[in-house]
Amino acid sequence: MEAFDKMMAVLTHKRCVNCHPSGDRPRQGEDSHYHNFGVQRGENNHGLPALRCQTCHQQENNNFSGVPGAPEWSLAPIRMAWEGLSRVEIARSILDPEINGGRTLEETVHHLTEHELVLWAWEPGVDANGVPREKPPVPKEEYIKAVKAWAEAGAPIPEE
Ligand code: HEC
Ligand code: HEC
Repeated sequence: MEAFDKMMAVLTHKRCVNCHPSGDRPRQGEDSHYHNFGVQRGENNHGLPALRCQTCHQQENNNFSGVPGAPEWSLAPIRMAWEGLSRVEIARSILDPEINGGRTLEETVHHLTEHELVLWAWEPGVDANGVPREKPPVPKEEYIKAVKAWAEAGAPIPEE
């Protein structure tokens, strides 16, 4: 597999896309159903005042209740929605300063390889039924290498 293919196999996985939805509601589980309890994005992506993400989501996974956790658990801003986009569209969007909050390629690589909400995908814990969540299809170290190799090659994005 090429570096780009490996990287995008991760970015299009539900562990990422469930938190990068195109609407105002997070998605859950392997079938990406709408989040239970009517949870919504709210004004600052941290939920409605009465139902904030941090009410339930803590700094780490709670494997007794099945609530996943990591620091600053919140929904990716709507301009960073990936749901329904092709892998090429996602790749273009993460390089677009209008969308990515003015990040340079180096800063984007840093986010992709070190941010806690990203790395959570390889420590996803168990769901409310105690069933382990599926991890992305590429092992973490291999993914990190692929992201760096892709960036070093000039971050090429194929046509299709
Ligand atoms: C719990 C929710 C959550 C999960 C899970 C999550 N993200 Fe995000 N993501 C966010 C939030 C919030 C932001 C905005 C943070 C910021 O811009 O600093 C974000 C921003 C990003 C950005 C910057 C967006 C851009 O357009 O440049 C990238 C890249 C990214 N996430 C990659 C991933 C990848 C890869 C995964 C899965 C391996 C993932 N995320 C999983 C919440 C999440
Ligand atoms: C009332 C408690 C509660 C609130 C509030 C809440 N969540 Fe959750 N969330 C849960 C529980 C419980 C699960 C686990 C469900 C399961 O997997 O069985 C979960 C799972 C998730 C998942 C699924 C991860 C995956 O890949 O399967 C995402 C994404 C998520 N929440 C995001 C959010 C965001 C973003 C907010 C705030 C806007 C939020 N949640 C608010 C309880 C809550």
